[in-house]
Amino acid sequence: MPARSSASQWGSLAKFFHWTTVIAILVQATIGLVMVELPKRPGTIPVYTFHKSLGLAIFAFALLRLLWRAFDPRPLYPATMPRWQVVGAHAGHALLYTLIFAVPLSGWLFDSATALRPLYWFGLFRVPSLTGGRDEAIKTFAEAAHFWLFWTLAAVAAGHAAIALHHQFHDRDDILRRMWPGRRRAAEATKPLP
Ligand code: HEM
Ligand code: HEM
Repeated sequence: MPARSSASQWGSLAKFFHWTTVIAILVQATIGLVMVELPKRPGTIPVYTFHKSLGLAIFAFALLRLLWRAFDPRPLYPATMPRWQVVGAHAGHALLYTLIFAVPLSGWLFDSATALRPLYWFGLFRVPSLTGGRDEAIKTFAEAAHFWLFWTLAAVAAGHAAIALHHQFHDRDDILRRMWPGRRRAAEATKPLP
């Protein structure tokens, strides 16, 4: 399966980036939502540290993904797809990319501004502070930003998934199939789009 995308098919690397990010964000969101309900005890610190480390990994992964995207072509949309839908898809994807950077960045900013203790990424190395120390105003802003940016991501991603399913089961086009993990038969993969 080619690593690069073609005119009719996402490449294996683009699919890997997409679906790994989806799974990581689902795991990360679950941990985040559960963790804030836990009693504030020393025993919960490792859960917070894991959430922060995984969140920073998602951020680094998003950077790598954008880098790869700069060199990888995007599949073309079916000629039958109206112009407004193509513009909407580009805008929605740009928003999703913005959010997968903004959510972890706001968490990192919050962690930096609380300056509770040094953060070690999965215990391996010390993560630099974005604020250089405790800052009450930034802390309040970043905490609210992390919360609202997360819920914006959840809403936009849910809409995005619903549109993908609409393409699959209503329009019956290739949009979801060509992003779906796994190999496709050569003839099918090169079949011209309707
Ligand atoms: C894609 C990445 C991330 C997602 C999806 C995510 C998601 C969440 C969610 C859903 C919550 C619970 C919000 C609430 O109900 O109050 C949360 C809380 C939190 N997150 Fe993240 N997070 C991410 C990255 C990060 C990063 C990178 C850090 C720090 C380096 C971080 C630090 C925190 C902290 C400290 C809290 C607790 C906030 C509080 O006590 O009010 N998060 N996160
Ligand atoms: C956290 C959840 C998700 C995020 C952050 C996300 C993000 C993205 C982004 C940024 C793109 C554009 C890729 C690019 O142009 O480089 C994309 C494409 C795509 N996503 Fe998602 N996605 C999520 C969940 C899903 C789910 C659940 C589905 C399926 C039900 C899905 C189906 C697709 C499809 C089919 C495409 C290709 C669209 C096209 O050909 O233009 N995504 N996704």
